[in-house]
Amino acid sequence: MYRKFYLSLSLLAGLILFVFMGIAGYKEMTPEWAGYQQRYNKVMVEKASDAAMRKKAGNLKVHLQQIYLKDLKRVDRCVNCHAGSENPLMAEAKIPFRQHSGDYLKHHPPERFGCTICHNGQGRALGVREAHARGHDVHWDRPLIPFEFIQSSCALCHDPGTIKGQGGHKVASGRKLFLERGCQGCHKLDGVGGVLGKALDDVGSQPVAYFPMKRVEGEKTVYAWMKEHFDDPRNIVMGSEMLANLSDREAEFLTTYVLSLRSDEVPKKYRSFQRARGDEPSGEEGESLYKMFCVACHSTGTDSIYDEVFKRTIPAIMNPAFLSAADDNYLRTVLAEGRADTPMTAWKKDAAGLTATQIDKILAYITRNRPEKKPQPFGLAGYAGNVRHGEQLYKIRCISCHGEKGQGGVGLNLRNPVVQKAAFEFLAITIRDGRDGTHMAPFGKQGVGLQNPDIADLVAYVKTLGTKK
Ligand code: HEC
Ligand code: HEC
Ligand code: HEC
Ligand code: HEC
Ligand code: HEC
Ligand code: HEC
Repeated sequence: MYRKFYLSLSLLAGLILFVFMGIAGYKEMTPEWAGYQQRYNKVMVEKASDAAMRKKAGNLKVHLQQIYLKDLKRVDRCVNCHAGSENPLMAEAKIPFRQHSGDYLKHHPPERFGCTICHNGQGRALGVREAHARGHDVHWDRPLIPFEFIQSSCALCHDPGTIKGQGGHKVASGRKLFLERGCQGCHKLDGVGGVLGKALDDVGSQPVAYFPMKRVEGEKTVYAWMKEHFDDPRNIVMGSEMLANLSDREAEFLTTYVLSLRSDEVPKKYRSFQRARGDEPSGEEGESLYKMFCVACHSTGTDSIYDEVFKRTIPAIMNPAFLSAADDNYLRTVLAEGRADTPMTAWKKDAAGLTATQIDKILAYITRNRPEKKPQPFGLAGYAGNVRHGEQLYKIRCISCHGEKGQGGVGLNLRNPVVQKAAFEFLAITIRDGRDGTHMAPFGKQGVGLQNPDIADLVAYVKTLGTKK
């Protein structure tokens, strides 16, 4: 009785062991991709509409396939599992066997384009995990790109504008936002732009290890970093000086565009355009240039804004009082030379990269509403200002905003070379008349009540600030 029981128990245990070993052995012999191909072949038999087809499907052999893309420098084996990508019979099948949606493969045949040029992932890998390269714990540089950003790949070969209505609307919108939100106010692209942030030419090919992922939510991918950084730069990079006020949707578009900025250039024959990025601003050219380079900081130019990130004022450069006191020559110098020790970049050719013509176009744009009426001349030419008296007045009247050394804060920086070389008239009129609508009050007789000689003394003192240690 007992013996029989133990006998059957050990037989059963043996059987279970055998089955497990069998499964293990089978797994060893049947790699992941081959399992998918076997299943694919089965589905093909099921889908066959007649006997001949069924026979043909039944004869399908499991074999390793790969697409060798010499010019794109890659080998793609995705089709081993995604076996029905081009098969209309698989229109209703489950992924990975399903036929590819849309016209993507019609326009980009796999034997010439492969899959990873659009999807990223690891072309050579034969297991799902490695091929898709996704997961919280893995740090492959370019896992499958989420569909929300996949259009970044299109811009490797297409000018975003040309595929706007053909599957590229997101990357086209991203490019447009990039130009209209003044990203180049702080970043160079193709050698042109401000210098507060780094050049963006290659930003889409940086390795994942470069990015500080600590505060990124969800999967720690470059894609997620970009999106969340646009959502809120200072949440991802502590103390970041990046200015970007974007909606969720806009951040998605910009992420899509920025990810396409890659140096691993696709060879010419794969591209349907000659890469030329800086050439498409439309409309009034001065206005487009203003948007590209100035709008991120100066906004509409009509308001004087104390910026919490910079901890200083961004002046109202289209303020009528300012425009009537500043002549074109002075403004041209401000634009060309910028303002040392402030976020205001030097825009000239060998700095931010603008040509003299471009600077003049921007100048014409910002002065387009300059008042006809000139301010009353200040006079007092030849009066030698009293620096010590000026200093006393400065300490009482100006220091709280412009700082002890003229470094600025709520007031502007007065110690940089451009202001130091500014015309006496401009400085004196500014102090006398102030700037309506900003924190710069009129200190002359019509305002605070300083006499003209007092103001001239102030200017004389201001002109010494540049050398203050
Ligand atoms: C070993 C088999 C296998 C290989 C190799 C493979 N895939 Fe997949 N793929 C799958 C399976 C299974 C799914 C569906 C389930 C899933 O998403 O994991 C899938 C899903 C996908 C999806 C849809 C994902 C989604 O979020 O809906 C894409 C895109 C994809 N694969 C692309 C690729 C690319 C590109 C490659 C080559 C780098 C590749 N796959 C290689 C098996 C594979
Ligand atoms: C020209 C770019 C491009 C190429 C090349 C490409 N895909 Fe796609 N693929 C896309 C886009 C875009 C989508 C998203 C479609 C959508 O959601 O409208 C997509 C979607 C998918 C999906 C999700 C299901 C579906 O069909 O929508 C899978 C799986 C997939 N691709 C696999 C592949 C595989 C495998 C290859 C290589 C044989 C490949 N793709 C080649 C652009 C491409
Ligand atoms: C590796 C480069 C490359 C990538 C990536 C790429 N394309 Fe293309 N695409 C081309 C080339 C080259 C052609 C022209 C095909 C030919 O030679 O006929 C083309 C053709 C097309 C066409 C047909 C255009 C027409 O007028 O017939 C469309 C639409 C298109 N691509 C959209 C896309 C979209 C959307 C994406 C991203 C999901 C994308 N492409 C990704 C290179 C690329
Ligand atoms: C006021 C200046 C400023 C403006 C305007 C600005 N940025 Fe930045 N950006 C920075 C600074 C500074 C950093 C570095 C700190 C950080 O990562 O947040 C940066 C970082 C970045 C990074 C990450 C680069 C890397 O490799 O770490 C990207 C991408 C970027 N900016 C894109 C943009 C785009 C797109 C726009 C337009 C919407 C834009 N920036 C507008 C200043 C700016
Ligand atoms: C990164 C932010 C930033 C960008 C981009 C920027 N500016 Fe400025 N700009 C400033 C700040 C801040 C000041 C004030 C500096 C100071 O404290 O002296 C300033 C000062 C100026 C002034 C002097 C105003 C005055 O009251 O004297 C002019 C003119 C000016 N900017 C024009 C431009 C133009 C035109 C562009 C685009 C080509 C531009 N700025 C781009 C931040 C910026
Ligand atoms: C309440 C703060 C405040 C006080 C006090 C103040 N300023 Fe200003 N000042 C500003 C601001 C803000 C601006 C820039 C306004 C704008 O254009 O947006 C400015 C602009 C200026 C400019 C123009 C600089 C340029 O580059 O265009 C000069 C010069 C100047 N102030 C001198 C003075 C002097 C001298 C005093 C003392 C008599 C003084 N300010 C007092 C806030 C102040």
